[in-house]
Amino acid sequence: MARLHNFSAGPAVLPLSVVEALRDNLLDLNGSGVGLMEISHRSKTFQAVVDSAEARVRRVLNVPADYKVLFLQGGASLQFYMSALNLLRPGEAADFLVTGVWSQKAIKEAKRIGDARAIWDDAPNNFTRVPQNGEYTVRDEAVYLHYTSNNTIYGTEFHHQPDSAGKPLVADLSSDIAGVPANVSEHAMIYAGAQKNLGPSGLTLVLLSPWAMSRIPSGLPAMLDYAVHAKDGSMYNTPNCVGIYVLDQVLGWMEDNGGMPAMIARNRKKADTLYAELDRTGFWRPHARPDSRSVMNVTWRLPSEELENAFVKEAKAATLDGLKGHRSVGGIRASLYNALGQESVDALVSFMTDFERRNG
Ligand SMILES: Cc1ncc(COP(=O)(O)O)c(C=O)c1O
Repeated sequence: MARLHNFSAGPAVLPLSVVEALRDNLLDLNGSGVGLMEISHRSKTFQAVVDSAEARVRRVLNVPADYKVLFLQGGASLQFYMSALNLLRPGEAADFLVTGVWSQKAIKEAKRIGDARAIWDDAPNNFTRVPQNGEYTVRDEAVYLHYTSNNTIYGTEFHHQPDSAGKPLVADLSSDIAGVPANVSEHAMIYAGAQKNLGPSGLTLVLLSPWAMSRIPSGLPAMLDYAVHAKDGSMYNTPNCVGIYVLDQVLGWMEDNGGMPAMIARNRKKADTLYAELDRTGFWRPHARPDSRSVMNVTWRLPSEELENAFVKEAKAATLDGLKGHRSVGGIRASLYNALGQESVDALVSFMTDFERRNG
């Protein structure tokens, strides 16, 4: 079986050992005699999986004991609305750093609840960077500041925790959670779709501080109420059992391979390898400004669309898959999530060197 080098932005490459464990447990979950997709989510066997997943989330991401860990559905996209519904009241203000399409969608949903405002917005430059502290002012009346830590489409990323002027921080960490340093205890709420660094699509990790839990109004529809999900241990309704199993395995793989410090170092090295090639010659045209370059998603253009199409096509023939950029930026995007090995980046860079020699 030939698995390609998978640079997809998400769903994305998973550790091979995790996919193999999934294959085996689809038939028989942990020796129970019942397959993972066939077992009751109320069974002791599956409860042990959920407990393990939560414990690993807490250990790997250093989640404070008084935070809630939830496994929800509806993607990060549901959290755009659900976070505002739970944390904001009609008439109240929330501020947003708008660094891409996902922040735009987050603010659009929050506006359904309250006075959500972009206090920094790079749309006029097609999102080539994130703001530095001091470039925006958080309103006095803002209840929280929302930001998107990594902009999957543009390949830009915060390399600092945004200054929130003392206000609670709410963050969408979908595309760099568990791949770069993040201080959970300094966030009021974090949410992330699992399908990049944590597992398959259809599962969303939500972390909530005591402050966030204290904000939840009573009487919300049950499925949109964090308090309901927290009280029932993410089992108010039937959860994404396969997703939770895979997330647990992925975090186990991380722990077996040095945890966050090792992932951070590996990811830094992969990104440095690729950016060095992008900076070697003017043939490549990186999208992100150097101070905002993402470690997880690297984006660049070529001198013409014809060359970009040829690049993607020839790369695929050379076993390098998933490199076509998002349509709003065009060009090329290479996603370098935790499970992508250095050897995949080395293969990409040697393909690029050869492509540039032939076409530059
Ligand atoms: C940063 C970010 N936020 C939100 C989303 C939307 O996630 P979902 O498709 O899980 O709703 C994505 C999807 O790629 C993303 O990259």
